[in-house]
Amino acid sequence: MVYSSIRDLGLAFFTVSLGVLQIPIMFALTFIDILRKATSKKIRPRQIVITGGSSGIGEALALEYARPGVILHLIARSRSRLEMTEVKCKQLGCSVYLYSVDVTNSDVLRKTLLDIYEDRPIDLLIASAGQAGDFVDTQKNDSLTPTSWETMYDRMFDVNVIGVMNTVMPIFNKMKSSGYGGQIAIIGSVAGYLGPPNMIYYNASKAAVNSFARDLRHLGQENGVYVSLVVPGLIKSRLTLQLDAPYPQTYPFFGSPQILAQEIKSGLSRNDSIISYPDYQYFGVYGVSTLVPTVKQWITWFVGLTGPMGTKMS
Ligand SMILES: NC(=O)c1ccc[n+]([C@@H]2O[C@H](COP(=O)([O-])OP(=O)(O)OC[C@H]3O[C@@H](n4cnc5c(N)ncnc54)[C@H](OP(=O)(O)O)[C@@H]3O)[C@@H](O)[C@H]2O)c1
Repeated sequence: MVYSSIRDLGLAFFTVSLGVLQIPIMFALTFIDILRKATSKKIRPRQIVITGGSSGIGEALALEYARPGVILHLIARSRSRLEMTEVKCKQLGCSVYLYSVDVTNSDVLRKTLLDIYEDRPIDLLIASAGQAGDFVDTQKNDSLTPTSWETMYDRMFDVNVIGVMNTVMPIFNKMKSSGYGGQIAIIGSVAGYLGPPNMIYYNASKAAVNSFARDLRHLGQENGVYVSLVVPGLIKSRLTLQLDAPYPQTYPFFGSPQILAQEIKSGLSRNDSIISYPDYQYFGVYGVSTLVPTVKQWITWFVGLTGPMGTKMS
């Protein structure tokens, strides 16, 4: 048994060596990737399902895909917000169907998704529904109440982890067995690599989702089911507005959901495995997440100095 600091010193040398080894490998893989993508056809989905399609990133994606000939199926809890998105999408010439379903209600969600698939195979499923502290039932009460981080874990995992699996698995299995294949995009987060410690359950839920998407891509590709992971940094949306962030004045510098939606659409058309935006946040957070545990723990302490971010403004 050695001191953990000595072990991490060894680990630092080891990871630096691995990092250097990666560089020639990445040059070769980049060359192969450019060739493959330049010669393959861009994917243009027609039948699209988006959970969380009524707001923020999900809404921006609905608008990005809304074109004549496209059929959009939008899922979220609040009917009124879904209807507002429907109006905007229809103005762009696509067909829109709305489903007021909570992603934690696995039976209803499964039936909804399979009914859509029965009508016409789904080309693209996007699992965007997620929360960071908004636990009011929007069907009954849209007012904001403060929620402390200690009480969040069950609902956070129900929505952000089980909700994603409830969404993805029925269609993943259907795409696999039908022979049509298809695409699935899962919205994770850079917080899944490293996030503010006071968002403990959000970070943990996104770490689970990031890892789930990576493994599912491997398990699906043999049958033509392509899973992509989206890792946004801080993006302007209802979710980030509701966080009791210590520096609300930084909000104007958050990424745009519209640009993220464009990045996702073009990444998915090339079947990219990971889609990130803003890239400086992806680089910063992912880079730090590869540091040795002792250093990472110090960085978590430093990030924690920014104060609580896991509560919601009343
Ligand atoms: N904004 C960011 O900085 C950021 C960064 C990284 C990752 N993300 C992820 O991006 C995804 C979308 O977030 P956003 O920023 O677009 O937030 P948002 O504007 O609050 O949108 C969240 C969407 O999810 C729906 N939703 C929430 N809980 C649901 C449930 N239980 N069942 C069904 N639908 C539900 C919401 O509609 P209802 O409330 O009507 O149900 C809404 O349509 C989330 O997974 C989030 O974790 C966001």
